[in-house]
Amino acid sequence: MLGLLLLQVLASCLWLGHSEVVTPFDSCPQFFYAGIPPNDALNPNNPAWICQHFSNSFRYATLYDIDRRIPVYSAYKYQPGFGNSPHLWWFVEPQLINPAYSKDMATEMYIEKTYHITLQQIGQNQAITQDYQNLQGLDRGQLCPIVHQSGDYNKTATFTLTNIVPQNSILLEGAWKEYEKKTMAQNTQGCTTTYVITGAVPGDNYISNNRVNVPSHIWSAACCLGDEKPTKAWGAIAENNMNEVTVISLGELEEELSKLYPGKTVTLFDDACPRE
Ligand SMILES: *[C@@H]1O[C@H](CO)[C@@H](O)[C@H](O)[C@H]1NC(C)=O
Repeated sequence: MLGLLLLQVLASCLWLGHSEVVTPFDSCPQFFYAGIPPNDALNPNNPAWICQHFSNSFRYATLYDIDRRIPVYSAYKYQPGFGNSPHLWWFVEPQLINPAYSKDMATEMYIEKTYHITLQQIGQNQAITQDYQNLQGLDRGQLCPIVHQSGDYNKTATFTLTNIVPQNSILLEGAWKEYEKKTMAQNTQGCTTTYVITGAVPGDNYISNNRVNVPSHIWSAACCLGDEKPTKAWGAIAENNMNEVTVISLGELEEELSKLYPGKTVTLFDDACPRE
C-alpha cells in the first residue's frame, strides 16, 4: 500500500516536472492565429518571449531581441477604436531585469523604487527612455500601434519600449501611418477577426552609444478570418530610410523576409493563411 502511494507521488512529481516546461508565448497564444507563432527563423540569439501584460490583462505579444534591444515583432488582434491614453511616460519590462520580477509593464521610476535598483540595471537587457532622446530623423515607432487598439488600457499598453523601434520619422508619419490607417481599414472590410504580426529587421546602425539597433526594414503581415476560416492575407514592407510602403502578398513577404534573414525560411502564420 505504501509502495503504491510512493509510486503515485513519484509519478505526479514527474508529471509536474514535465508540465513546467515553458514554451514561447505559453500564456498568450490568443494573439496568434490558431495559437501558433511564426517559426523560429526570426529568433535572435538572445530572445525574450513577452506576453505584454498591463492592468490585469494580456494585451498583445512581443518577441524581443535582448542583444539589440529592439523587438523582433509584436503580434496582436486588429481592433481599432476609441479610447484615451495619456502617454506622458513610457513603460519598460521588469521581467527582463530579473525573471523573478513582475510580469506587468511598469515605469522606470516605479521599478527603481520597488526593487531598489538603478536605471543602468534596468537598461541592461532592454532600451530605456533616455536611449530614445535627442534622436535625429528617427522617432519611436510602435510595432503594435495605438491606432489598432481600442479602449484606454489596450491603447496605453502600446507605450512600452519593448514594442518600440527607432523608425524613420518621415516614414512613420507618412507612408507607414497611411498603411496603418487607410490600407488596413480597406483590406479588413468583411473580416471578423484580423491577426497582425508587425516586425523589424535588424540593421547595421545603432543609436545611444551602440545600445539600440536601428532596423533596416519594418514589415507587417495580416491574416483575415471570414466566419472562422482565413479568407485572405497580405503583407507590407518598408525600408527604414524611405517614405514608401510596398503592399504584397503574404507569400511574397515571407520570401522577402527569408532573403533578409539569410539561410532561414520564414513562415508567419503556420501555412494557414492564403499566401497568394
Ligand atoms: C483589449 O484587448 C483585448 C485583447 O486583444 C481584447 O480581448 C479586448 O476586447 C480589448 N478591449 C477593448 C475595450 O477593446
